[in-house]
Amino acid sequence: MAVVLCLAASAGAWGQEAKSVWDGVYSAPQAARGEAVYAAECSRCHREDLTGYNNALIGGHFMDRWREDTLESFFVLVRNTMPRGAPQSLGDQAYLDVVAYVLQKNAFPAGKGELTTAELPQVRVQGKQGPAAVPDFSLVSVVGCLSQTADGTWMVTAGTEPVRTRNPKDSSAGELKALGAQAPGTHLFKLMDPASVAANPPKGHRVEAKGFLIRQPGADSLNPTSLQSIAADCGK
Ligand code: HEC
Repeated sequence: MAVVLCLAASAGAWGQEAKSVWDGVYSAPQAARGEAVYAAECSRCHREDLTGYNNALIGGHFMDRWREDTLESFFVLVRNTMPRGAPQSLGDQAYLDVVAYVLQKNAFPAGKGELTTAELPQVRVQGKQGPAAVPDFSLVSVVGCLSQTADGTWMVTAGTEPVRTRNPKDSSAGELKALGAQAPGTHLFKLMDPASVAANPPKGHRVEAKGFLIRQPGADSLNPTSLQSIAADCGK
């Protein structure tokens, strides 16, 4: 329960007007337009009922891929990669409409207003119960202290709650600065082979580690894609 409360509190950081897909973020007419876009541009590959490619657009698979993130991540991926072979070919409005249709097919309620690009970063994708821990195997970012145990195992200690990211690569200086402003957390992660992403792992530094989260009893593991120093000492 404590975990859920802490997540709910941190959700505010995503935006003053944070809402979720449960708050009626698209309108029924918009979803109807999206249905037409879907039929013309998506259904031949994704099937009429959205079940193509292992339910990429519907149900539990869709939710595990996108929950604990904002709707913007989903929109950006669709716009930048779909339709396969003609990415970014439809225009933002058509992409928004098709996102509205996907929300409707996933049983998220319609509201009065239309979904706009300005709103995307404010809308969280989450289950009916509210914010939850990110799923196993998500690409995440954590901030903590890089240390090494006597047997050589690399650890990130005093780690923050793992947060979903869509960018496996290094963060910018500005992003690192913002991350460094966070309070230390209480999570512990085993860091698999940090030398694979950093020639000299910055031991003793406060770091941002990005990687795939592997949930394990005792300490979760991170299979890293990026490891960067935020500050040279893990000053408490
Ligand atoms: C020519 C075939 C084709 C068309 C048309 C197409 N897609 Fe896809 N789409 C794919 C393939 C293949 C995959 C799965 C492989 C992959 O993820 O690279 C995919 C995957 C996806 C995913 C999941 C990606 C992920 O990383 O989770 C989404 C979301 C998606 N498509 C949305 C759409 C939408 C929306 C449209 C219509 C605007 C569309 N696609 C049109 C072929 C297509």
